[in-house]
Amino acid sequence: MAFANLDGVGDNLYPRAGNAGMDVVQVDVAFDWYPEGDGVTGVEGTLGAVATLDVKLTADRPGLQFDVGSMHVRSAMIDGTVVTVSHTDGELVLAAEQLFHRGDSHRVVVAYVGRPEPIDDGTGAEIAVGWHGLGEHSYVASEPSGASSWLVSNDHPSDKAIYRLSVTTPDHLEVVATGTLRLRQPGPRPATTTWIFEPRDPIASYLVSIAIGRFDLTEDRAPRTGVAIRHAFPEGRMAEFAPVFAATGAMIDTLSELFGPYPFEVYGVLVVDDSLGYALENQTLSLFDTDLGLNAGSATVLHELAHQWFGNSLSVARWSEIWLNEGFATYAEALWAEQRDPSYDIDEAMAEKWRNGAHLGPIGEVDRHEMFGPAVYQRGALTLHALRRTVGDDAFFALLQRWVATYRNQSVTTAQFVTMASDLAGRGLDDFFHSWLYEETMAPLPQPPFPR
Ligand code: ARG
Ligand code: ZN
Repeated sequence: MAFANLDGVGDNLYPRAGNAGMDVVQVDVAFDWYPEGDGVTGVEGTLGAVATLDVKLTADRPGLQFDVGSMHVRSAMIDGTVVTVSHTDGELVLAAEQLFHRGDSHRVVVAYVGRPEPIDDGTGAEIAVGWHGLGEHSYVASEPSGASSWLVSNDHPSDKAIYRLSVTTPDHLEVVATGTLRLRQPGPRPATTTWIFEPRDPIASYLVSIAIGRFDLTEDRAPRTGVAIRHAFPEGRMAEFAPVFAATGAMIDTLSELFGPYPFEVYGVLVVDDSLGYALENQTLSLFDTDLGLNAGSATVLHELAHQWFGNSLSVARWSEIWLNEGFATYAEALWAEQRDPSYDIDEAMAEKWRNGAHLGPIGEVDRHEMFGPAVYQRGALTLHALRRTVGDDAFFALLQRWVATYRNQSVTTAQFVTMASDLAGRGLDDFFHSWLYEETMAPLPQPPFPR
């Protein structure tokens, strides 16, 4: 039987991302990192992987389908039986002759190997996304569509899973990853070490990361909430980077007060010796390159932390609504300044942002090349400030807290936010959001007196 549907979950920007009709619940991957080649392919920097995925069908499907980039798939099993494999254009189809029933659960094992190559994300960015090899060292920056360069997954933020990652490396290398280090033990081959990481909460595939290298590690706790903090800096460079991220604990405490408890069991940053040009909010372990790591103002440090609530705990159900990530994280920068600095006038700051951004187009439904552009970030933040000055502080902050609590570990849409905002404000806000999100010209900011 021909496979009926090579399409994804139906994302309008990434039509092939993810796969319809399935919910991947847990992914357990055992990686082997061979910096000098695995002795078979002769290619340096190869990764061997055995991924075990627990999958629940949400619709009847002819075969099971996953996203996996250019890695070579060696074999696959479903519920212990070896199945046929077809792998074209990043789509992996297993047992295409069999019918899988809605509601059933299956355990899928996929063995694959190769040198992971980053993927062009179609945003127009110069640097492809996914696995970044740096000789013996490596790291991951996948947003939006790079996870399949190294993971077998249902690669869309609407399907989160627990990603348990085991990595075996030569003894002289270290590993950090999203989640918590559960075990570090001698590896199966001589002179290797195996590192096992597991997160408490599910993660969207694009926010899963591992890094292999040599690190200076720090451990700390947020002063008031006690949230565990661990940072990983390039080896020998702790003194340079630690000061840049010293306010992390205070930031966690402040944002926890504004938005509700920090959503995960641990936080920290990873600084990698590369030039990526942007920071990325990998779940529990935000990523900075050395340049940003040295020069990031507190705004960028805060921005990536704020994404743990907005973007990570609550993820976009559709990439075109990414203002729900970036607008919120950008507005959080202003909220932090407002809390920290009594001389900071948030209305003045937002008025200035408005003047600088008066030309910015609509953000409610963006294209791939607009996803990380200034409109999404700046007009997104202005939309939230305008909302706050329209409904008053009480309703606005109650909304943020309810938003975060209600959709924790889920995926969200703009329509859900509009509905919740209208509920809390006690009146329909469709016109407000229509104007701020979808109209070509940005509305003026509300002027005082503001409701409380
Ligand atoms: N989410 C990141 C941030 O807000 C930006 C990621 C940019 N991604 C990209 N492929 N250009 O800082
Ligand atoms: Zn951001």
